[in-house]
Amino acid sequence: MLHDGISSPHDGPSSLHDGPSPLHDGFRPPDGGLPALLGELTRIAGLPLERGETLPARAYTSEDFHRLERDRVFGSDWVCVGHVDQVARPGDYLRTDVLGTPLVITRDETGELHALSRVCRHRFMDVLPAETTPDQGSLKRLTCPYHTWTYRLNGEFAGRLAGAPLMNKVDFDRAACRLPRYRLEVWHGLLMVSGDPDAPPLGPQLADLDATLAPYRLADLVVAYTERWDGVPANWKVAFENGSENYHHMGSHADTLERILPGKDTVVDECEGRGFSMYTPFAPDMEMPRGPDGMDLVGTLIPGLGMRQLSGMTVAGVFPNMVLALLPDSVTFVRWVPTGPATHDALVTVLVPAQARQRPDFDAYVTASKEQFKVIQAEDLVAIRGVQRGLATDPAPSGGRFSHLERPLWQFQRYLAERLAGVGAGAP
Ligand code: FES
Ligand SMILES: [Fe+2]
Repeated sequence: MLHDGISSPHDGPSSLHDGPSPLHDGFRPPDGGLPALLGELTRIAGLPLERGETLPARAYTSEDFHRLERDRVFGSDWVCVGHVDQVARPGDYLRTDVLGTPLVITRDETGELHALSRVCRHRFMDVLPAETTPDQGSLKRLTCPYHTWTYRLNGEFAGRLAGAPLMNKVDFDRAACRLPRYRLEVWHGLLMVSGDPDAPPLGPQLADLDATLAPYRLADLVVAYTERWDGVPANWKVAFENGSENYHHMGSHADTLERILPGKDTVVDECEGRGFSMYTPFAPDMEMPRGPDGMDLVGTLIPGLGMRQLSGMTVAGVFPNMVLALLPDSVTFVRWVPTGPATHDALVTVLVPAQARQRPDFDAYVTASKEQFKVIQAEDLVAIRGVQRGLATDPAPSGGRFSHLERPLWQFQRYLAERLAGVGAGAP
């Protein structure tokens, strides 16, 4: 029998003011703020997958939780900022803001890569403002456009002040003036940056993914295109979690992906730590995906792939916020970057083999691929926005449980508990 706390659209306001009782579906214990939320995160992260639960809604809406993530996740952990092809030649630069701080990645004349702050040491100007400079390009030196202080880009001197006009009449230590440098590691061709000078190297933490990724030779691929969806109205974790499971293919993508890559056939690897992987074979009866005008959407195959890679899609994820979809002709990596507690930017980069660019129909392939991606993204956004609307009502804990296909979400909770609450990885 339905109890009388459930309201219908015809109920007057009085039915909402009966006061919560312990039996009321909407009853919630008093909000204990951030400590209570971290306590709940710790408890949930200690559950085995078989009894795993979804995080409380406030983990996706709270300002305090968001600030902690900015500090302990994006501000200090390894985060992907791009691919080596975006800074392929000496002098190339790539602007990025994904750590919540303005950075530029540069390649010096010896081929070495650097991650430098873009905040001028004079009066805090962005030395490569988006208003006047493209996201990537080539530079000899970094010159702040405000008062033209100039910084070196080479080797050990990268970030050092090279010149500052009209500063000779004041007491100014030029030698000590330098743009802060960030840790940078190249992992399978991806540019990974950390704001923590003491962060343990990333590669060994992701060693479990090496064999899965190796056949695709990511470092040799080139960028076909990038896309971005700015200001998506959902917490970044909602979108990351959506991208970390294929369970939703049968719902969100019933007419698209599910026909090619049925979610139920996905095998999720029993990964631990900060990386996960899964594999979905192509549907035996699938039709080749076609673009507008019946164009063949299969691009140039990545050289050297084995039968397994040619027969399905591998998905690999790296906490906090990146998922790679590895297909026989392309590798797409998506990053979800928070811009507030309930908003994020989704950044998409599609990699293809270098030979693909020689195809006479490469531009048409890119156009068709973008269109196809937009269709999938539109389907995902229905779920991502819809989940956030549910979370924004601050519902009582739903007791939401995970399918075995959602193992990466369960694993993600352990990562979050470790970063945010200091709980040891895999702690009970
Ligand atoms: S703020 Fe950069 S030169 Fe003045
Ligand atoms: Fe999806």
